[in-house]
Amino acid sequence: MAGLFKGGGTALVTGAAAGIGQAIALAFAAESCLQIAIGDVNTDGLDKTQQLIASEFPNVTVYTGRLDVFLCERAQLTQILKQDVPPGLKNRGSIVNVTSVCQTVLRNNYSAFAASKGGVLAITKCDAYDYGPDNIRVNCVATGITSTADDAGVFAEKTPLRRTGTPNDIADAIVWLSSPKASFITGTTLTVDGGYNLRNGPP
Ligand SMILES: NC(=O)c1ccc[n+]([C@@H]2O[C@H](COP(=O)([O-])OP(=O)(O)OC[C@H]3O[C@@H](n4cnc5c(N)ncnc54)[C@H](O)[C@@H]3O)[C@@H](O)[C@H]2O)c1
Repeated sequence: MAGLFKGGGTALVTGAAAGIGQAIALAFAAESCLQIAIGDVNTDGLDKTQQLIASEFPNVTVYTGRLDVFLCERAQLTQILKQDVPPGLKNRGSIVNVTSVCQTVLRNNYSAFAASKGGVLAITKCDAYDYGPDNIRVNCVATGITSTADDAGVFAEKTPLRRTGTPNDIADAIVWLSSPKASFITGTTLTVDGGYNLRNGPP
């Protein structure tokens, strides 16, 4: 079977009812990950995501459920630690978090958002360091302005690639980073922003 996951693996996508999370769930299905669990507080949106996957990728099994888990990464690590390295693969499991270029490409009145996204980056690095010996990879993707943002249009002309990102741009990077193709990458931040951060340096 073609695709990054070749019909193997199970993916959990949080925030999958809309925007980038929905695109990630569809991208996993497109790359032949045949078991996908999707969670969100928005159950109507989750139903929509499940329908989209079912119509495009009928061979994929989708598990849905309202998800309110705080400290989600703790729950993920606890589960992955129970798993062996799958046959033919190099890692026990992989986590990709979503941060933002906003923690270093500064904007007015963004201190709370920037602090939260800086925290995501710190958790990513700490858990990559702590769980590397368990063969678990933890990385993050720093997104630039994506079309789901209310003020996306303002930023297109300030971006070297002269457009804002689409949810699919972000999803493709996340799915690749979580796949066996990235098996020696951990603790890193992949910036997906059309070059926007070059104005102020990478996150
Ligand atoms: N859109 C951008 O320009 C941009 C830029 C930088 C970073 N990001 C980050 O990318 C991620 C996705 O952004 P988006 O634009 O797709 O957002 P979005 O608002 O379109 O989708 C977010 C989804 O998360 C769900 N959600 C919110 N709180 C939740 C909770 N406590 N538990 C479960 N689900 C919850 C929402 O219901 C929604 O379906 C976020 O982490 C965001 O901070 C986005």
